[in-house]
Amino acid sequence: MKSKLIYRNRILYNCVMRLLYGRHYACRGESVADLIPAGSSVVDLCCGPAVLYERHLSRKHITYTGIDGSERFIARVKQLGGHGILQRISTAGESLPAADYVVMQGSLAYFLPDPSLLIDRMLAAARKGVIIAEPVRNLSSSRSALVRRVAIAASGGPGGEQPQRFTEQMLDDLFARYRVDKAFLIPGGREKVYFLAPQEHPGV
Ligand SMILES: C[S@@+](CC[C@H](N)C(=O)[O-])C[C@H]1O[C@@H](n2cnc3c(N)ncnc32)[C@H](O)[C@@H]1O
Repeated sequence: MKSKLIYRNRILYNCVMRLLYGRHYACRGESVADLIPAGSSVVDLCCGPAVLYERHLSRKHITYTGIDGSERFIARVKQLGGHGILQRISTAGESLPAADYVVMQGSLAYFLPDPSLLIDRMLAAARKGVIIAEPVRNLSSSRSALVRRVAIAASGGPGGEQPQRFTEQMLDDLFARYRVDKAFLIPGGREKVYFLAPQEHPGV
């Protein structure tokens, strides 16, 4: 399936993200990176062009693996010195590569209506924790006409599937089944970050 232009072009992708997150753009990566100690290993699901690694994790000497369905984004991960895996992730599937932290940012809604099997696989692969950050503010009703148009154009799956998104309440309900060590909104309130404790008996 041919993916949307923003998932093929990292410059366009970065422009769209900057517009949607405004002055809080840098905070979204920082909020996740601050939870990961230097020297850890990280698997980043739906990593996009690996902005998290480029801007926040590489300087912390993280061993980074990015998984994404976009060939160009995986080429970027490799160019940055990370390990890139080109793979279309499905809700129920094979086990994920093991790491200290398994991360997913801005992508859980692609796995609606029920991403819990995927979260279970993330927990099974994580030695120290799972970090999931997901937008909770719907910008398609923003006061800015430009933000509104870009938010609508960028929504939906990478192949143009119908837009689906979480509300904060939906996320809180989903994570109520898990052991959540921390949950907080990033500055600006657009994204909520959940830190899940690892399983007691990892079964990977
Ligand atoms: C909104 S971007 C988020 C990228 C990155 N995590 C970030 O926060 O900057 C979503 C990414 O998920 C990828 N993606 C969406 N569904 C996927 C799937 N089922 N398997 C693999 N990658 C997927 C897209 O190719 C895109 O790079």
